[in-house]
Amino acid sequence: MKGDKIIIPVASGKGGVGKSMLVSNLGIALAARGYRTTVVDLDLGGSNLHTCLGLPNRYPGVGDFLKGDGASQRLSQYLLQTPWNNLSFLPGDGRTPFMANIPARQRKQLLDQLGQLPGEIILLDLGAGSALNTLGFFGMVHRGLLVTSFETPAIMNLLSFLKNFSYWIITVVAQHDDAVYQKLTQAFRATMEMNPVTVNTLLREVEQLNPQMARTIKERLQQYTPRIVFNMGDRVEDLQVTEQITRAMQHGLSLSPEYFGFIRYDGAVRRSMVEERALTACAPTSSAALDVDRLAERLSKFWQRSIPESAAMLQRSTETMLQS
Ligand SMILES: Nc1ncnc2c1ncn2[C@@H]1O[C@H](COP(=O)(O)OP(=O)(O)OP(=O)(O)O)[C@@H](O)[C@H]1O
Ligand SMILES: [Mg+2]
Repeated sequence: MKGDKIIIPVASGKGGVGKSMLVSNLGIALAARGYRTTVVDLDLGGSNLHTCLGLPNRYPGVGDFLKGDGASQRLSQYLLQTPWNNLSFLPGDGRTPFMANIPARQRKQLLDQLGQLPGEIILLDLGAGSALNTLGFFGMVHRGLLVTSFETPAIMNLLSFLKNFSYWIITVVAQHDDAVYQKLTQAFRATMEMNPVTVNTLLREVEQLNPQMARTIKERLQQYTPRIVFNMGDRVEDLQVTEQITRAMQHGLSLSPEYFGFIRYDGAVRRSMVEERALTACAPTSSAALDVDRLAERLSKFWQRSIPESAAMLQRSTETMLQS
């Protein structure tokens, strides 16, 4: 939360797992609940959120903001009102070459302005993978959403994203101490024959040089609880993967992600993409649309301070739903 604003970055380790589908339809579902919501296409170099919303690709957005003269520019001037009440859209840029590689200065410019966008909820559709820009946007808040499918490459890339995210947090803190920063840079250059770098080995190295900094890093890591949304599941056995992820996390990482939602595999999603319409508009009662709606309900319960079902209860109810 930033003041009375809630920012929700949506990332994934692997591409094509349903981030844009989720951001567009979650935005519609939250707006329908009365929240003033903005969906932002931050998948620079791969912008297609407009298609998931059924809007044409002809409006300026983040790309034009970045090409402007900086100081006098406001990101909010590119906001579009969508056909849905309470839902605004900030387009990305699918045309400008090399847009995926914006420098740190521009990333900071965007981070500052994202926090100033009007509205109560800002959903960020990020690019897949662990590029520094993506890690920076994901790290804006402590509880971003991470989307994955159940396939092994998606799960492996999810773990890899979390590992990179942990390293990013360590680096952000460590940049204030030259000796620690150099040590980290060396460790990151380790070749395949050398012992693998882990968060724990890095923390031990930092501890030797600067114990206070090591404590700060641990505290910072503990603040983050990424929320995992599983997409395109169709078998109850799929859910077993959540235990594997928890085990892998306990061994190698200091972050503790939480199971947050489940969206069923549904042919209506593909049809909506082919028709270039929002799923909620063309198949509002499809199973995927209902699952996204449940997720919106769960999020709004957190904000209303009423108690949503726990992750364990949610998992059990998903199992029952899949068995029936
Ligand atoms: N629940 C679902 N059931 C069936 N198909 C789905 C589901 N969710 C997403 N898809 C399909 O997966 C494809 C990728 O979805 P989407 O574009 O939202 O992924 P993404 O993570 O944003 O991809 P990218 O990393 O390229 O930005 C789409 O073609 C969509 O039709
Ligand atoms: Mg996408």
